[in-house]
Amino acid sequence: MWHIQVIHGPNLNLLGQREPDVYGRLTLTEIDERLRVYAAGKDVELRAFQSNYEGAIVDAVHQAASWTDGLVINAGAYTHYSYAIRDAIAGVGLPTVEVHLSNIHAREPFRHTSVIASVCVGQIAGFGWQSYQLGLEAVLGWLENHRPAEG
Ligand code: DQA
Repeated sequence: MWHIQVIHGPNLNLLGQREPDVYGRLTLTEIDERLRVYAAGKDVELRAFQSNYEGAIVDAVHQAASWTDGLVINAGAYTHYSYAIRDAIAGVGLPTVEVHLSNIHAREPFRHTSVIASVCVGQIAGFGWQSYQLGLEAVLGWLENHRPAEG
């Protein structure tokens, strides 16, 4: 059984009411529920965490190292400038998939840069809430491909 931590960054607690044309109409609770159903079907233990605070996200990345096999993170606006979150991901060495509801590359120029992308195994952006499901699928696929050979 794989153990995965999902981390949601700032303002994602407002999903459902926040710019629905950009981010969709599902609330964060509804997204987490869909992910939980998906994970349960794959025999994956999934925990989800949201914070609007950079340090709390850094702590969540550190704590994940004690029990998870991988991370799925939507760092929200921190994606574009948080070297602290970047260093936390690099520091724990967990395979991490970066996800975004919107296609950050098709939006304002400041969103085109991700300072965490280079320490993640990959990035998924632009598929609404399904970016998270695709991210989960991607990190599980990565883990299967990198599972240590038995025997
Ligand atoms: C986001 C994109 C970021 O630029 C933005 O600041 C967010 C959400 C996304 O999921 O599309 O808060 O990460």
